[in-house]
Amino acid sequence: MSIRRTKIVATLGPASSSPERIAALIDAGMNVARLNFSHGSADEHRERARQVRAIAADKGCHVALLGDLQGPKIRIARFANGPIQLEVGDRFRLSTSHPLDAGNQEVVGIDYPELVNDCQAGDELLLDDGRVVMRVDSVGSDEVSCTVTVAGPLSNHKGINRRGGGLSAAALTDKDRADIILAAELQMEYVAVSFPRDAADMDLARSLLADAQSQAWLVAKIERAEAVADDEALDGLIHASDGVMVARGDLGVEIGDAELVAIQKHIISRARKQNKLVITATQMMESMISSPLPTRAEVSDVANAALDYTDAVMLSAESAAGQFPVEAVQAMARICLGAEKHPTSQRSGHRLYQSFERCDETIALAAMYAGNHFPGVTAIISLTDSGFTPLIMSRIRSHLPIFALSPNPQTLGRVALFRGVQAMAFNPADIPAEQLYQQAIGTLLKHGHVKPDDWVILTKGDSYNASGGTNSLKLLQVGEQLV
Ligand code: G6P
Repeated sequence: MSIRRTKIVATLGPASSSPERIAALIDAGMNVARLNFSHGSADEHRERARQVRAIAADKGCHVALLGDLQGPKIRIARFANGPIQLEVGDRFRLSTSHPLDAGNQEVVGIDYPELVNDCQAGDELLLDDGRVVMRVDSVGSDEVSCTVTVAGPLSNHKGINRRGGGLSAAALTDKDRADIILAAELQMEYVAVSFPRDAADMDLARSLLADAQSQAWLVAKIERAEAVADDEALDGLIHASDGVMVARGDLGVEIGDAELVAIQKHIISRARKQNKLVITATQMMESMISSPLPTRAEVSDVANAALDYTDAVMLSAESAAGQFPVEAVQAMARICLGAEKHPTSQRSGHRLYQSFERCDETIALAAMYAGNHFPGVTAIISLTDSGFTPLIMSRIRSHLPIFALSPNPQTLGRVALFRGVQAMAFNPADIPAEQLYQQAIGTLLKHGHVKPDDWVILTKGDSYNASGGTNSLKLLQVGEQLV
């Protein structure tokens, strides 16, 4: 049976917190468990993280933890008497001085004083992900007066976006800073930053992680219109991150759904070109919150992301709060496997006409070229310290599984997100040099990933357990006496 290459990120929540459910999600194919810091207490996250670690260890597999920071989502405050209904043409005000618990049919408070500076007459404000839309008529010193253009209900704490972006709250709140420390405590492999504006926001998150002694890799959620305004802005964010998430919820609201699909494809391709990871997220299996089967449109959405070579597809409410979390993971797994059979998923033009910059990059890409062109090869083995070598390998389209062999538990978890990469615990320092190749191949043989006479490509460096040193590539035939 072929190994699925596209990875699955599943958000844990009330529908997926029992040990049985987490075990079932792992069996169904969850590679990364997302803990959403927008919901739940620190202790709930601690408990979920502990369970994922324990159950994955029990099953002998590697599941990464991704902590998703809440970020500065701008929200309206509360209504005095429950939700209101707004009709087209209604006048409505957002006020920075109105009491936060006393919203009514005409006005609601908002805990974001900058609103009056960020808005101008003529702007379009989208509330509750665009379910209610209002046009700004005028801006005063402490309130924005609007006319409703799309009618709908409005309830407490709904989010607010401006069409075209431009609500400028700083990316890291005090809560995010506390959650970074929690992510470090839980040794999470990934931390996702919400609403970053530019590289400086990512740099700040990186230094906070370093202060907390976390090795987590950083994911920038691309969800502001400014982030995709031009390639310079997008590349700046990608460059400052280890990976990006196409966060289609807010992004779609800010740039409009007509732009979203092409931008998604562009983000995936630009991230991969810069040797970064990419996760495609939001509403991929939305109907499975209450239905055991996806719609054809959802099937197509997941398959297209896989065909575009996203590293991972992601479930949010489907796995956190839906009625069919396990079925949603199973459906994603099946759809990705199907898409991966298509020849475009297996041919690469990556870096075809470019120079390489580093020795390890050169070896990694040479390994993929050799593997893709020498038909006897059935697996690539990369001895890795940080995951960097298999990351570079996995930027190349291929049908070949890449096995990342490492003694470092953080690395084994980290590579669980890389497209086409399988983690295996292996410590070259424990093995006499003359048995290294034999034992590395033995690890694959033991799990049935290769058979006698197959060819395998192995990459390594001269020293053990040091990142950045990959400098050799060896073609080995399974079953030979290997030295
Ligand atoms: C392991 C191997 C080394 C190799 C290194 C590459 O430590 O034992 O021989 O050079 O991985 O690590 P990297 O983090 O760059 O993939």
